[in-house]
Amino acid sequence: MQRIFSGIQPTGVPHLGNYLGAVRNWVALQQNHDCLYCVVDLHAITADHDHKTLAAQTRDLAAALIACGIDPDRHVLFNQSAVHAHVRLGWIFTCVARMGWLNRMTQFKDKAGKDRENVSTGLFTYPNLMAADILAYHATRVPVGDDQRQHLELANDIAQKFNHDFEVEFFPAIEALIPPTAARVMSLRDGSKKMSKSDTSDQSRINLTDDADTISAKIRRAKTDPEPLPSEVEGLEGRPEARNLVGIYAALDDTDHAGVLARFGGQGFGTFKSALADLLVAKLSPIAAETTRLLADPGHVDAILRRGAERAAAIANPIVDEAERIVGFLKP
Ligand code: AMP
Ligand code: TRP
Repeated sequence: MQRIFSGIQPTGVPHLGNYLGAVRNWVALQQNHDCLYCVVDLHAITADHDHKTLAAQTRDLAAALIACGIDPDRHVLFNQSAVHAHVRLGWIFTCVARMGWLNRMTQFKDKAGKDRENVSTGLFTYPNLMAADILAYHATRVPVGDDQRQHLELANDIAQKFNHDFEVEFFPAIEALIPPTAARVMSLRDGSKKMSKSDTSDQSRINLTDDADTISAKIRRAKTDPEPLPSEVEGLEGRPEARNLVGIYAALDDTDHAGVLARFGGQGFGTFKSALADLLVAKLSPIAAETTRLLADPGHVDAILRRGAERAAAIANPIVDEAERIVGFLKP
């Protein structure tokens, strides 16, 4: 059975983009894969973070993932800092990856912006750690949203260079699993920006913890244009906000853009938005309720993570021990 690995950062509340771009797929893949899902707290400190709330945010996110349908009994759910293999292999990969490769990473350019001299060095080497997350388990399939495509290409480059430099066939090739619809959910306020936990406007995203009234209000206020919805997919060209809302509906209703337009084409946004809000509430409110129920017993969530970390370490430690031998470390 192929091994799946994926991660999500505990910076802020998970949102609809995380759910449709990644987590929903994580849940589905559990049926026929061995899966490891990781709350990547090491990655969370590459940018300014609140040290007073990081631990709670890590627990909250783990609870939300379980509420979405991640099964911590049959699969492995843990937080990254609890398994030291990530850092050990991450360091080796930091010495394998080339400056030129990392310099090309668009997410670094976006996140660093004009402040390049002042961001942490961890933000720059972030993709090396991400490659280590996956390869420490010899995982071969990685379900992510479209924004992580370039990082996974880099992980493949690192694996290949390691194998080549040390004359081994040790690390496998990695395949990105990116969903066909809603691989990139956009901001509700600006169809050219992706929906993000770090957007200062809460109106730009649907959080998995939002209640029904909040969801409805956010969708009602979502930016659109004055035209009715087109009947054909081509009519979404040049209408990023309309395309985004249609894509969200399609993903939630397990159809595609054409399927949604067959039903709503020619109608104004009023009708469509209210149907979309109803669909979102139907799909998301059970998740919010289950998250709240789980967090009533934080000790239980922590115990799940602790056990997950033990199981993860049991897989990763022998692989990273071997990587260290291959690199040439004396392991007395
Ligand atoms: P992050 O919140 O950056 O840790 O992302 C966790 C997962 O959600 C990754 O697989 C991302 O690719 C995915 N993701 C984040 N934002 C979006 C978005 N706006 N649309 C689709 N997928 C997303
Ligand atoms: N970089 C990913 C993101 O921001 C999170 C992540 C960290 C990840 N390690 C990973 C995703 C390993 C997949 C596999 O979304």
